[in-house]
Amino acid sequence: MVVMRDRIKAIVPAERRVAIRRLLARVKVFSNYAYDARRYLRASTAGRMADDAERLAAHICMDYHRLEKGMALPSPRHGFGRDVVMRLMRTVGRYEDRYGPADVTAFARGALAGYRRFNAGQLAPEVEGALDAFLSAPMQDGGAGGVEALTSETLFPFDSDAARRFLRSRRSVRQFDGRPVPEAILQDAARIAQQAPSVCNRQSARIFASNRREKMDELLSLQNGNRGFGDRLGAVIVIASDMRAFTSMGERNQCWVDGGIFAMSMALALHSLHVGACMLNWSVEPGRDRALRRCLGIEDHYAVITMMGAGFPPDALMVAASPRRRTDDIIRFV
Ligand SMILES: Cc1cc2nc3c(=O)[nH]c(=O)nc-3n(C[C@H](O)[C@H](O)[C@H](O)COP(=O)(O)O)c2cc1C
Repeated sequence: MVVMRDRIKAIVPAERRVAIRRLLARVKVFSNYAYDARRYLRASTAGRMADDAERLAAHICMDYHRLEKGMALPSPRHGFGRDVVMRLMRTVGRYEDRYGPADVTAFARGALAGYRRFNAGQLAPEVEGALDAFLSAPMQDGGAGGVEALTSETLFPFDSDAARRFLRSRRSVRQFDGRPVPEAILQDAARIAQQAPSVCNRQSARIFASNRREKMDELLSLQNGNRGFGDRLGAVIVIASDMRAFTSMGERNQCWVDGGIFAMSMALALHSLHVGACMLNWSVEPGRDRALRRCLGIEDHYAVITMMGAGFPPDALMVAASPRRRTDDIIRFV
């Protein structure tokens, strides 16, 4: 390899070598983006029909959330979203005919019931009639739905100083005692992390986790940032995003955003349970990405966002200082 490089150096002038390197980098960037694009087209309904339960659920979620959002505005207009309501009833009907009732259709029915309550006596007769017929079907209207009433006390039910101390105490931990993190704790953390926001509440984020040494080693061998501490981790968590949740070209990068937000939420949730965590980058090219999906046994529609290591820290430990930029440098008021 080195001999070959020296030969090329001797034959090809420096400026030509730079141009070739640039060209190769371009080819690589485009082929890597093509890998993402192909997978996005296959998984999302930007490139195909919503012809299965998961993809149909994404469309239902988008529409019922439009109603929820509308009702949560300071002064919603009565009768707003007529087309959305009619479409939502059709999609929920199609879903339930094919796959039976599910959480997502119950949420949609709840939002439709909330919408009917909110608009009582103010809807066009054909919309009201359609809603009455739809909601009087057997599995229906659980009472609440659409919106929840809060006060400033229930919106902020915590002490600000304590919350600030909590948020500022999170650190990337790289020292662990080697005990496995029980699945119950990972599950609890996942439940807390689920409070993360996501586009139209579509909740594309998924967790694939292991606390078994052999599997953890296999997963960690594919990741390049865990040397020196990976073998003491008590769990390896892979945060992924199900791209079937996305519906348009504009959402082509949404998996990275929603998945990244969820990953942060998971890190904070683990911290709240006194479990140390360290994000483990998944900055890889297609070959490595495929190898990880094979190792996890997961389908192509999952985009892996990041890995995360977790474990119980010892009583005394060192962490990287990781000093922050000046806040004035990262904020610009416009
Ligand atoms: C997406 C992402 C990937 C990361 N990957 C690694 C990694 O592979 N190995 C590692 O030791 N730390 C990794 N980190 C941790 C960062 O180094 C750390 O968050 C940063 O230095 C700030 O320190 P703090 O988390 O202690 O506040 C990663 C962080 C993020 C957000």
